[in-house]
Amino acid sequence: STSASLSGLRLVVSAGPTYEDIDPVRFIGNRSSGKMGFAIAGAAARRGAQVVLVAGPVSLPTPADVQRVDVRSAAQMHEAVLAALPADAYIGAAAVADFAPAQAASSKIKKQAGQDSMTLTLVRTRDILADVADHPHRPRIVVGFAAETDHVEAYARGKLEKKRLDLIAANRVGMAGTGFESDDNALTVYAADGAVHALGPAAKTQLADALLDLIAQRLTE
Ligand code: C5P
Repeated sequence: STSASLSGLRLVVSAGPTYEDIDPVRFIGNRSSGKMGFAIAGAAARRGAQVVLVAGPVSLPTPADVQRVDVRSAAQMHEAVLAALPADAYIGAAAVADFAPAQAASSKIKKQAGQDSMTLTLVRTRDILADVADHPHRPRIVVGFAAETDHVEAYARGKLEKKRLDLIAANRVGMAGTGFESDDNALTVYAADGAVHALGPAAKTQLADALLDLIAQRLTE
């Protein structure tokens, strides 16, 4: 293929959901399949990059020549991603929980007779992407994802600026045939330098290559 080589470059990719434990049998999760991040990791390895893939709980095979680190919670993902630095690029494709139970109960929480509601107190998780972009070993290119049901562009541009990213790949979720769980997706990529790139609709494997082209361009200029 004619795609730009990533030989000699180190990429860290996060993918999948996180699970935040409530007790030994229950958790708070989300509908991320991990397919987009796994496709990016696999495509980057095929281009010769050294790839670390930090994966939340997903049932996907490890792409060839990718170093995979499995995690469960947002806190574990935070630790694994920062431990994988320094890198030339970080691509945060994981759907990280924004809130988690302050502490998981050590035994199963039982409902009481006559109890008709319960309250769970959640605390904010740390923002992995923002911390990577703020790190002393900040990768040259930091890429985020924004899955939104509405106001996609405004929210994506807001995150780009607030989290000090180089690129953000926005996709609209809640449409049939794209987004979570699907094999296809459509992305609009907003760059800190003002550029806008519409990618797809296409297979996530194709989108991965298109996104890597944008990253390779910026890493080699
Ligand atoms: O702010 P929001 O969660 O919508 O931003 C999505 C982007 O931020 C994704 O790239 C996601 O991986 C990243 N993120 C993160 N750590 C969090 C929350 C989101 O890295 N705690």
